[in-house]
Amino acid sequence: MSGARTGRRTRSAARLQGVGSTIFAEMSALAVRTGSVNLGQGFPDLSGPGSVVEAAYEAMRAGTNQYPPGHGALALVDAVVRHQQRHYGLDLSPDQVVVTTGATEAIAGAILGLVDPGDEVVVFEPYYDSYRAMIQFAGGVRRPVTLRAPDYRLDVPELEQAVTERTKLILLNTPHNPTGHVFDETELAAVADVATRHDLLVVTDEVYEHLTYDGRAHVPISTLPGMFDRTVTISSSGKTFSFTGWKIGWATGPADLVAAVEGAKNWLSYSSGAPFQPAIAHALDHEDGFHEQLRDDLSLRRDHICAALDDLGMEVHVPQGTYFVTTDVSDFGYADGLAFCAGLAERAKVVAIPSQVFYEDGSAEGRHLVRWAFCKERDLIDEGIRRLRATDLHA
Ligand SMILES: Cc1ncc(COP(=O)(O)O)c(C=O)c1O
Repeated sequence: MSGARTGRRTRSAARLQGVGSTIFAEMSALAVRTGSVNLGQGFPDLSGPGSVVEAAYEAMRAGTNQYPPGHGALALVDAVVRHQQRHYGLDLSPDQVVVTTGATEAIAGAILGLVDPGDEVVVFEPYYDSYRAMIQFAGGVRRPVTLRAPDYRLDVPELEQAVTERTKLILLNTPHNPTGHVFDETELAAVADVATRHDLLVVTDEVYEHLTYDGRAHVPISTLPGMFDRTVTISSSGKTFSFTGWKIGWATGPADLVAAVEGAKNWLSYSSGAPFQPAIAHALDHEDGFHEQLRDDLSLRRDHICAALDDLGMEVHVPQGTYFVTTDVSDFGYADGLAFCAGLAERAKVVAIPSQVFYEDGSAEGRHLVRWAFCKERDLIDEGIRRLRATDLHA
């Protein structure tokens, strides 16, 4: 673990304290070591559309193999502009888009480009783990607002209370990982109202924008009245097109905020994924059908795994979006989800993620919650369920 003492002195920087590795890498390594079915990390088993893979080959063969522009390949920038117009009615110009190395780099660019030391950032807990690392790297201060089980709706008075005169921005994530909560228009209006009254920026991570269930619409907060000018919207092709390993993402918003993201990201990767950028442009323009089908398939897998986990005696919090489901495992007698998941890998040979890692240290809220990924093939999910059924899950 970084920040730990190695020999006589600490060799890693203080900014890595507590954020030296990701739970996903740790749990995926545990899955390999124990021969477990990996229902932990959120990556699909199957690649995205063949036409997109072909487009990447084509780009490579045509010589698109050197640094793309830091701002992004023109074809992809234009495709993102068209995507935001087609899906959300937003009219962007190319300087309101920047391409990044996955949403991860867009998050890094946004936080490093917008947050000064001492600035406070409101985050909705439980939250995706890179937020903590980036706020820490920027010298910012996290102000968590807890979304509580079982429905994880926003507690507006709690949001109000989290804002101080040092608050710089609200970091939103909808559809929300790990809870699967999709912020509805009332909740978004409340966030917009707080942001506007306190003159705050909003950075919104919308990587699951196309994976919502039961006809529920994803609404980007930037489409609410007056919000575009204070919002950086982040997305990526990883979840939408099942190319998580290509790491093609983007940030959109008013030109000065996008320039701030780009100003920071220029010193991270500068640019990446030359042949993948035109391929993802092709995906955005021509493969809406892929994520529509993915959403429908995932919705069936969601119902299937939720029913099975419920059958096993867990309280299931059915997600409205994303490809994760949370269960409460307190009835099995473990001290917490971490102990449950460690035991599960050894005994059942199934890996899941203890949700407590997505909460502030010491928060009791997520202690007995566990996150299961259902973006896996049906056979693999069934094998996981079979193993769980064959195991006594009690401590
Ligand atoms: C909420 C959220 N944001 C960002 C990311 C990272 O996206 P990318 O793979 O495009 O960097 C993930 C991946 O799991 C995520 O769940």
